[in-house]
Amino acid sequence: RIIPVVLSGGSGTRLWPMSREDRPKQFLSLTAELTMFQLTLDRASDPERFGGAIVVANARHADLIDTQLAGRDALLVLEPLARNTAPAIALAAIAAGGGDAPLLIMPSDHVIADIDAFNAAIDAALPLVERGWLATFGITPDAPETGYGYIRIGEEVGPGAYRVARFVEKPDTATAQAMLVAGDHVWNGGIFMFRADAYLRALATYAPAMLAAAQTSMENAARTGSRILPDSDAFAASPSDSIDYAVMEKAERVAVIPVTMGWSDVGSWDALHTLGADDDGHAHHGDVIALDTSNCLIRSDGIRVAAVGVSDLIIVASGDSVLILPRGQSQHVKRIVQAIKDQE
Ligand code: GDD
Ligand code: MG
Repeated sequence: RIIPVVLSGGSGTRLWPMSREDRPKQFLSLTAELTMFQLTLDRASDPERFGGAIVVANARHADLIDTQLAGRDALLVLEPLARNTAPAIALAAIAAGGGDAPLLIMPSDHVIADIDAFNAAIDAALPLVERGWLATFGITPDAPETGYGYIRIGEEVGPGAYRVARFVEKPDTATAQAMLVAGDHVWNGGIFMFRADAYLRALATYAPAMLAAAQTSMENAARTGSRILPDSDAFAASPSDSIDYAVMEKAERVAVIPVTMGWSDVGSWDALHTLGADDDGHAHHGDVIALDTSNCLIRSDGIRVAAVGVSDLIIVASGDSVLILPRGQSQHVKRIVQAIKDQE
């Protein structure tokens, strides 16, 4: 069976004021009653297909995660500090035993609307993964996004699976535009599948210091029940890098499975609006009164927010803060977060 690995690390400041350092976006109920973290675990919970999940998260979110697990079973690997995704996945591969078990690496903060399509893509990846390939899932791009990885599709290597001809992580706008126009690239969905031993072998080749740090920190880990705390000093010695730069761009046998599954990484308030909202009723959430508004996203997790006669606004109230900006501008939220940091 496939072992689901859920990555819960990013600080998620782009959905401020609802996401904060102590409560990143995967722990929020943004798209459904359940949080994105819970939806991610539930997506890979069919016991016919999946074994017990491994969650790799920052130690300071341990209690939050316990609450959100709400009875779900998972092995919790608690990082003493953040070293980005490549080392986090190394910890998971070691925790999984390092053998030939296939791992399905899933960010905890993505939306996937079409679960059947997701499962079909996993089935398409599995035969290659069993033979030692590293697999990723490709999303059809619809804008020259610079925050994603791009993959040029190569020759077919199995039903619905293609060799990665080229991997371009986070291109500049001109490069992204050119790849969009060329039409032969997909976005890297940030979801990966490979055998634990295949990943560790790739690290041995391309990032040996990272592998050594992960191994030592796991050898000296503290274990209590279903929690593993890798040794802090050993893990701190690891270089910090993403799987994309450290492994996927460099490795030899890398496959991409293009899939249309209603994927979104909910990277901004605008993205959330696009996801949920064909009408205002859908976009609003919490104690909100909206009269004669159009194309707005209005959310509150506390105080009442009332709006009349406005259009194309994002209004988000959370805790002690209210955010207001025009739709289409939500990438500027990170400037606000920076301004707050500078003030403190
Ligand atoms: N446990 C752990 N530890 N998780 C982490 C860490 C870490 O140090 N850093 C990041 N993560 C988690 C994040 O919470 C997120 O769920 C996932 O790993 C991906 O990290 P991001 O920081 O969100 O990566 P990105 O969005 O910049 O880029 C990746 O995702 C894109 C798609 O959303 C890349 O894989 C891109 O190629 C891809 O297009
Ligand atoms: Mg991301």
